[in-house]
Amino acid sequence: MRLLALQAQNFRNLHQVSLAPSPHATIAVGQNGQGKTNLLEALYFLATLKPLRAGRLAELVRWGTKAARVSGRFLLKGAEREISVEVGGGVRQAFVDGKKASSLEEYFGGVSVVAFTPDDLEVVKGGPDARRTFLDRAVFNRFPAFLKESRDYARALKNRNRLLRDGPAADPAYLDAYDATLARSGARVYVRRRALMAELAPRAQATFAAIGRTVDPAVYGYHPAHLAQEFADVDEARLAEALLEALAGRRRRDLERGFTSVGPHVDDVALTLGGRSARAYASQGQQRALVLGWKIAEIENLQASLGFLPLLLLDDVSSELDPERNAYLMGYLAASGAQVFLTTTDASLVRAAAAADTLWMDVHGGQVAPRPPEPSAGGQAPLPGQQPPAPVPVGHLLRGDVAEEGEAELRPENPVGHGEEERADHRPHRGAQEEGTGGAHEQHHPHAQGGFAPAPGLAEGQPHGDEGDGEEESGQPER
Ligand SMILES: Nc1ncnc2c1ncn2[C@@H]1O[C@H](COP(=O)(O)OP(=O)(O)OP(=O)(O)O)[C@@H](O)[C@H]1O
Ligand SMILES: [Mg+2]
Repeated sequence: MRLLALQAQNFRNLHQVSLAPSPHATIAVGQNGQGKTNLLEALYFLATLKPLRAGRLAELVRWGTKAARVSGRFLLKGAEREISVEVGGGVRQAFVDGKKASSLEEYFGGVSVVAFTPDDLEVVKGGPDARRTFLDRAVFNRFPAFLKESRDYARALKNRNRLLRDGPAADPAYLDAYDATLARSGARVYVRRRALMAELAPRAQATFAAIGRTVDPAVYGYHPAHLAQEFADVDEARLAEALLEALAGRRRRDLERGFTSVGPHVDDVALTLGGRSARAYASQGQQRALVLGWKIAEIENLQASLGFLPLLLLDDVSSELDPERNAYLMGYLAASGAQVFLTTTDASLVRAAAAADTLWMDVHGGQVAPRPPEPSAGGQAPLPGQQPPAPVPVGHLLRGDVAEEGEAELRPENPVGHGEEERADHRPHRGAQEEGTGGAHEQHHPHAQGGFAPAPGLAEGQPHGDEGDGEEESGQPER
């Protein structure tokens, strides 16, 4: 997968951007507040239909204009295809090769992106919802079918919660039916997450060991809460039974509280260092290494399992890393052969990721213009026509070579009785949905977003209240 061309119009402060990215590194340099993150967000929005930062869809449209548009031409499995998204009036519309997308699956069609922003560094210390989102983005990238599966779960959860709010008046026969549906779809979410973790966790642990500079091994684990069954070994049908049992066992409590207290939407990813909770004990540097370990593992895992590298977006990450970890990351990027977009206020921090084919850009006041090449890692800019260094196999780096040189929301358990189910954003991509039909789940989510006007055929069976559903709920705190 490769992005061949990117265009953005009236997206945040970007008036009009048109660029042909490098097949490897594209680096946007600029001072604070100039539009660097906006540029990455445009690309992220194109690839996921979600804003990179909290907010409402309307925030994406440049002030004084009515609509924003982002489009990109991708090379996917040998064929070129253009996807674009327009936002206006709080609604988004998605297009494939100039025609309205008939489904989200058609729209995404193999486009995959891994973003790494300073916000990600809070994942270790933040709440479980952030970690579930983190996990589910990786699950979606790895298993595209998860888009639909997680929507099914979100919808089932929303239905059950709606019924729970009737309290004692809720019809037990209906609840039984909803429990069964929820248990089935929940078991599928468990199975996907389990499969992803089985692949990703060992890689993340190895990467952490290479960059973490600590004798304590990291463990990335996922263990569903409140399930009696041994999670690791049982099949999907047994997981569904276990969830059904747990739902039945907690029904009274759920009816009292008006929300569902067991299921994938309340689970967490356990991050431990030397067997102790990273949330409670990890140092700043260890937190960064944990996140970096995860992201690099995600990239490698996609390459190993699907045979291609995702597009990487790194927003001002270098300023958050110490020199040694930054050197590790830059060395990794330069060697991996991935197509990557980096932003920075200080070009020297990312120079090591650059090569002869790097596209350097200046971002100033929402304008994006070519920038004279920076000297490369070796000190001198390679001469025109000079070959960039050959990519080094990614596995090579895991042995520490570079270190020596240098990604329903399913909601926490303590909801305060509002909008619980609507936090079913346990999937990375939202479903197509009219604005305002989702629930009240966006308020804490870093990737809240607005509505997406579906093409005919998209509206049916779309999720409500998962991560992507962007109602403009008033009075909700935003991040
Ligand atoms: N909808 C919008 N219309 C116009 N301008 C906007 C819009 N949304 C945000 N901006 C402006 O975009 C600018 C921020 O851009 P961005 O976040 O990309 O900066 P940045 O270059 O990444 O800065 P930093 O280095 O501080 O992260 C701010 O000046 C902000 O006022
Ligand atoms: Mg920024």
